Parts: sequence; structure tokens; C-alpha cells
Amino acid sequence: MRTTEGPGLDSSSALAPRRNLRQAACAAGLDPSYWYPVEFDSALGREKVIGIRFQNTSVALYRDRHGNVRAIEDRCAHRLVKLSHGFVEGCNIRCVYHGWTYAPDGTLCNIEHESFGKPFPSVKLRTFPVQIRYELIWVFFGDPSLLKQRHLPDISELEAKRPWFCMPQVMVWKASPTMIVNNFMDSTHVSTLHNRQFWTRSLKIGAVTECHADSDRVFVRQNVEMDFGGLLRYTGPTLKTNKQDTCYEYPYLWATVGGAYKLWTLMLPLDERTTKVFLLSLCDGVKIPFTPWLAPRWTRRFLVPLALRYLVGPLLDADGWSAEIEQEGYEEHPGVSPVDPHPAPTLCYQLTIRKWEEHLAKD
Ligand code: FES
Ligand SMILES: [Fe+2]
Repeated sequence: MRTTEGPGLDSSSALAPRRNLRQAACAAGLDPSYWYPVEFDSALGREKVIGIRFQNTSVALYRDRHGNVRAIEDRCAHRLVKLSHGFVEGCNIRCVYHGWTYAPDGTLCNIEHESFGKPFPSVKLRTFPVQIRYELIWVFFGDPSLLKQRHLPDISELEAKRPWFCMPQVMVWKASPTMIVNNFMDSTHVSTLHNRQFWTRSLKIGAVTECHADSDRVFVRQNVEMDFGGLLRYTGPTLKTNKQDTCYEYPYLWATVGGAYKLWTLMLPLDERTTKVFLLSLCDGVKIPFTPWLAPRWTRRFLVPLALRYLVGPLLDADGWSAEIEQEGYEEHPGVSPVDPHPAPTLCYQLTIRKWEEHLAKD
């Protein structure tokens, strides 16, 4: 049986010599041999198919009649039409054009039209492992032999006895993962970018007390206080510590603030300069706005949309916008080395580059 070779998941080859570290990090992709979130579970109905992308490779994602989610190379072997234009039939996926049908393991299993005396083509499309957790659909795009070594991020706050409030969002930012990592790991922007408005003014960031890289992560600890001039003071619980920890735990980003808030930023690179971002904003309690009382859990369904609209949404929109304008600046001046006193970006560039080179070497 012939296995069709899909388009390479890694569009760029080995990193060409670059003038500066940031250029090399921007040219690197993210290693496909990790689990990446691709869609919220609730967004994919039964017998529905959608197209997703990871670093320029298209994948059709569908949910079969029994509720199982499958991921398959998004191109029909016949004339290369995307299968995501097609239909789900039982457990199979059928191309919209001439109806070639593929089984869940990617094997071509049915052609209804005339075969012109030719034998039935022996074709198998590539399929990708899928799992559902934290109300997200995760796909593993990489080397299947590494599957057992790679785990989903541990978002224990969602699986605690009393799960934290979760305000999930998805956004598409016109920026590479490197720009998003820069925004996330360097909080010196908080007092300017976020503190201009009542809605987004939230924290006072103090000195960096730790910043180091070990194995596959970069960690930054710094002092933090609530900014009493902002909306967060009236809606969120009080900080339990004055520490903020921020981590690039490759390829995921998380931050905890004062033991009361946590943010996961989960990146899905679509191409070199576009990244879909799943943002899980968590807090251990939400106040009834403008009162000192914590809201009962049953009010979550009313409060989460409000918090998303007036607090978390504007805050994270500003982060996305800042990653996009950093991307624009980079594209206009790619060879200019940034003058950057914060220690985290350099460590993050090095981590991104090393992981990409390790991936290319394996390949
Ligand atoms: S292109 Fe898919 S069946 Fe013809
Ligand atoms: Fe920010």
C-alpha cells in the first residue's frame, strides 16, 4: 500500500545563518512533536468537519457519528481538493468533488464513480493523534515515536475539587510565536501598555528577583502588587503573595499572579507570522463587581462573559496588538539587533532556536 506523503510540516529547512538571535528565533518554527490545541471541543459538532493548520500544513478535523474526533491530512488523493470541504459519513470522510471516501485510519475505502478499467487505488493519507482535555481538542502533528514522551500541560486548577473560574478565549494574532513569547515573558509593558485605561490597569510590576533557563523552560519571578486604580481590584480576589511567576515551558506559556490568578497562553502557529492563541484566564474566585463578596459558583455563567468583555478581553487584546506591532517593527528592520535590557527574551530566543534545531536534526 502506498502512503501518500503529505506536505512537509516544517516549511523551512535548517536555519540559515542570521545576523541576530531574534532573527533566528523568528525564523524557527515550533517543534511539531508536541500536543497543540486546535479548537474548543464545543466548536466541533457531530458529523462536522473543519480545516485547521499548523505551520502551513492543512489538516481536516472531523467528529464522526459516534463523537470521536479525527485529524487527517487535508487533501484528497484524487485531485488534491481539501477534505475539509467534504462531508462526514458515519466514521469516514468523503471528498466533496467526486466522492472519494477515506476511513479513520486514512485509507481510501470507497469510490463510487467509474474506474475506467483501473484497479482500485491503494492510498493512505496521513492521520494525526487527537485527544480532548480541558475542553480543548489537541492534535499531535509530529513524530509518532515521541508521542509517549510528550504530555499535555498540567492545568491542575481546572481539575481541582473546586475548579477555578476559567475565562477561555481564542484569538488570531498576526505575529510569530517569538513576538508572543516576548510580550508574555517581559512584563515591563504592564505599566505603560495596560495601565493607560481603567479596564486594563491591573498590576504594578516590581523588580525581577529570578530569571533563569533550565532544560526546556525559561522562568522569571518578579514582585507584583494590585493596582488600586483599575477594574481588577473591584472584580477579582485579593493577591495572596506579592510574586508573579512567568514561564515559557516549551511550547506553552503560563503565568501565576499572587497565587490568585493564572494565565495559560497556548500557541498554534498557522504560518511564519500568524498564530492562533488559546488563552485560559483562571482565577480562584470572582467578586460580585464593586462589592467585597465573592460570587457564588452558580453565577459563573453570567460573570464569565462579563469578565471576558470588560476585563480579560481588553487586556489580552492589548497584548495581541503589541505582539503584532512588534512583528511589524521586526519586519521593517529585520537585521537590526534590538537593544533589550530584560534578560528573558534572549533566553527564550535560545530555547526556541535550540528546540527547532533539535527537531530538524531528528527529521
Ligand atoms: S478531488 Fe476528491 S474525489 Fe476528486
Ligand atoms: Fe500584557
